[in-house]
Amino acid sequence: MMKERQSAQILVTGGAGYIGSHTVLELITAGFGVVVVDNLSNASEQSLQRVTELTGQAIPFVNADLRDRSAMVALFQMNRFDAVIHFAGLKAVGESVSKPVAYWDNNVGGTLVLLESMERAGIRRIVFSSSATVYGDPQRVPIDEAAAIQPTNPYGRTKACIESILTDLATSDPSWAIGTLRYFNPVGAHLSGRIGEDPRGLPNNLMPFIAQVAVGRRERLSVFGDDWDTRDGTGLRDYLHVVDLALGHVDSLRRVLQSPGHWTVNLGTGTGYTVLEVIRAFERASGRSIPFEIVNRRSGDIASCYADPAHALALLGWRAERPLDQMCEDHWRWQSNNPSGFASTQG
Ligand code: NAD
Ligand code: WQD
Repeated sequence: MMKERQSAQILVTGGAGYIGSHTVLELITAGFGVVVVDNLSNASEQSLQRVTELTGQAIPFVNADLRDRSAMVALFQMNRFDAVIHFAGLKAVGESVSKPVAYWDNNVGGTLVLLESMERAGIRRIVFSSSATVYGDPQRVPIDEAAAIQPTNPYGRTKACIESILTDLATSDPSWAIGTLRYFNPVGAHLSGRIGEDPRGLPNNLMPFIAQVAVGRRERLSVFGDDWDTRDGTGLRDYLHVVDLALGHVDSLRRVLQSPGHWTVNLGTGTGYTVLEVIRAFERASGRSIPFEIVNRRSGDIASCYADPAHALALLGWRAERPLDQMCEDHWRWQSNNPSGFASTQG
């Protein structure tokens, strides 16, 4: 049984991206067969070349958009997948406010074509990348999975909508196995420093911005407000090492391969750190100083957001193990070895 499960074939959508590439690496290490589909709208194929270098295994890659029905039908005809891990989507909150149609089309439209293709091929096992952003401004922290779903931006609403589609699907046919993962704030990089987050243009998120300041690509960080109701006035979040997150996908995959059913878990550490605490941790890890200035609050931000991760432990036996210092050290190793991301070096 174990042997059969380990050789299962997994389709990873968005597998060339940040979280996808780390997950592909852990899947291969755990003995799964992997095929990646990605349209490279926010990734470089180099991430997969580097995973090949790290694992010694070539990764079948299909450069296609999930919304391309004929490409998806062909993909499912040519392969016999046991399950899908679905990362592909657009993820920038601010951009989703200015381009809502593109976000609904890509995220929801792409998911619908994927689910149609899966139904047609008789594959009913999926692990889906949702986000803590579906909780919006939470009524209390830590946030458990029963908290209200009240996203405050188009990106978050596409995630909540996909969650509803998956719920309807599970109700229509209980033979589906569906795991919905609500990630908190993924950061860090693989220990090798060969793969990591490579944002295009100005980073939206805190740690990639800090890393670019540390490496000299940006002059200083803007800290969005120091008058929040937190221990030092700056925003508090649940930062999660991307390798812990990738391992959470391996555990989730094992679960959907084992039994049908529909479940939703938070993936977070359960501990929050403020912006100033992250700056200090990154300074320690990098040995560089991070110049910053306090500016106005960013529209749509909230004071505090951190997970109650108890359900993931109970259901999957998963818990995050890598502390903030390691998140910063690993993020720094990636950034300092690849100052311009995957464009830094060939190969
Ligand atoms: P990413 O942009 O690095 O990866 C997403 C990948 O999907 C990219 O490689 C992109 O090229 C691909 N893609 C996008 N639309 C596609 C389409 N229509 N067809 C084929 N490929 C497509 O982002 P990530 O940080 O790795 O995030 C992965 C998933 O996790 C996303 O669904 C994101 O919304 C979700 N998520 C991310 C975070 C985070 O902070 N990084 C937090 C919570 C949830
Ligand atoms: C963290 C903290 C900022 C940048 C976003 C999405 C969410 C999810 C993860 C996908 C906050 C502060 C940030 C900067 C700053 N993504 N900050 N200066 O806002 O918790 O979540 O990414 O699902 O949907 O909303 O993460 O990294 O942007 O911000 O002061 O230049 O850092 O105000 O307190 P956030 P973040």
